[in-house]
Amino acid sequence: MRKYFIQTFGCQMNEHDSEIIAGMLEEKGMTRTDAAADAGVIIFNTCSVRENADKRFFGTLGQVKKKKKNEPGTIVCVCGCMMQQQHIIDTVKTKYPWVDIIFGTHNIHKLPELLTNVMNEKERQIDVWPEGGEIVEGLPSKRLFSCKALVNIMYGCNNFCTYCIVPYTRGRERSRKPENVLNEVKALVSDGVREVMLLGQNVNSYRGDEKTDFAELIYRLNEIEGLDRIRFMTSHPKDLSDRLIKAFADCGSLCRNIHLPVQSGSSRVLEMMNRKYNRDQYMELVDRIRETVPEITISSDIMVGFPGETEEDFLDTLDLIERVRYDSAFTFLYSPRKGTPAAEDPDQIPEEIKHDRFNRMVELINGISAEKNAAMEGRVEDVLVEGASKNSIDALAGRTDGFKLVNFRGDRSLIGQIVPVRITKGKTFSLEGELI
Ligand code: 5AD
Ligand code: SF4
Repeated sequence: MRKYFIQTFGCQMNEHDSEIIAGMLEEKGMTRTDAAADAGVIIFNTCSVRENADKRFFGTLGQVKKKKKNEPGTIVCVCGCMMQQQHIIDTVKTKYPWVDIIFGTHNIHKLPELLTNVMNEKERQIDVWPEGGEIVEGLPSKRLFSCKALVNIMYGCNNFCTYCIVPYTRGRERSRKPENVLNEVKALVSDGVREVMLLGQNVNSYRGDEKTDFAELIYRLNEIEGLDRIRFMTSHPKDLSDRLIKAFADCGSLCRNIHLPVQSGSSRVLEMMNRKYNRDQYMELVDRIRETVPEITISSDIMVGFPGETEEDFLDTLDLIERVRYDSAFTFLYSPRKGTPAAEDPDQIPEEIKHDRFNRMVELINGISAEKNAAMEGRVEDVLVEGASKNSIDALAGRTDGFKLVNFRGDRSLIGQIVPVRITKGKTFSLEGELI
C-alpha cells in the first residue's frame, strides 16, 4: 500500500481539485502523508496566476530529483493550471525527466488510470486536454475539514481580464446542473458538513438550467435542512444581480460576507483591465449591498502595477479603499503572464514603483482591517469551530458569519459546532475571543 503526498499551490479551486485527487487515491487504497520523503506517489497541483507561483513550483520539483534517484519506484505527478500551458509542459518534459505523469485541469478524473499505466508500463504519461469536456460528476473527495466543504458549481471563465491567465488554463464557463449541486450538498450535510463554500471563477454567471441562475441556486440551497452556512467565491462585480443582494436578506443560511474583487480604483485602469465596470459603478454596488445588508463584511482582490498605471491611478485605488473600507483584501503585484494581452503592453511598471505602491496600499488596508476588527470588541459572534488554533495547542479556531478568524480557548469536542464567542480583542488579521 503506497502513501501519497500532495502539495497544492494557488486558489480554492485547486484546493478542491486536490481533495478530489486525494479521494480517488484513497479509493485505490492509498493513505496520505504530510512528508514527501515517506511518499510513494508525489503530486504537485500547480497555479499559474502569478510568476512567483511558477518559480516556487519548479524549485520544489527540483528537490524531488534526489528522492527519485534513491527510490526510483516513486511516482511523481504534476497537474493544475500550469500544465494547461504548452511551454510549461515542454519545460517539464526536457528539464525534469523524473516526472512520471502530467495531467491538466480538465481531466483530473484520469489520474487513477494514468497511475495504473505508469505502474504497469513504467512509461511516462502525458494527458492534457485543451478544453473541458462534459462535467464529470460523482468523483470522491477527501475533505480537509470535517465541518465545512468546498463545492464547485461551475468551471472556467469567459471574462478575459487582460492580466489573467485563468481563461486559458481553465477554459470556458460550464455550470453544473442544480440537481447535482443540491444532491452533493445534501450528501455532505448527512456527512456532518455545516458550511459549504460554493466555488466558481465568477459564480454570478452560473446558469444551471433555464430557471436556475446563481441567486436561485442560493434560494434552493437555503432550503436544505441542517445546512447552517452558505458562502461563495468569487463574484465579479459586473454581474452581481439584485436578486442575489436580496438573497442576503432572505436566506438565513447565506453568510453576511462577500468577496468582491475590485482590482483597481481607477476607471482608466479598470477599462484597460477589461473589467467592464468603473469605480463609481463599483462603489454604488457596494452602497446597494450595504443598504440591504448593513452588517455585511466585504473583502477584495486589489492589484498594483498594472501596465500604464500612473501615480494618479494608484491614488484612485487608495481613495477607493478608504471609501469602501474593506474588512480585508488580498493584495497583488501585477505579474505579466505569457499569452495575456497585458503582458505584451510596452508600458510595464518598474519593480521599485510596484513595490512602493504595494507597501503603501498594504499599510492602508491593514490599518482599516485593524480598526474594523477592534470595533468588534465586546460583541458576541456565532463561531463555527473549525479545529485547533495555529497559535496555541489549547486554543480553538473558527470563523464568524462574516468570515473573520477567531481564536479562543475551548475543548476540542466543540470542533464542528457553532458556538457563541465574545470578542475580546480585534487584531489586524484575526480576533481573540472567549467562549460564552
Ligand atoms: N498578476 C497579479 N495578480 C493577478 N491576479 C490574477 N492575475 C494576476 C496577475 N497576472 C489576481 C487578481 C485575481 C486574484 C485571484 O489574483 O487580483 O482576482
Ligand atoms: Fe481571471 Fe477575470 Fe476570470 Fe477572474 S474574472 S478568473 S480575474 S479572467
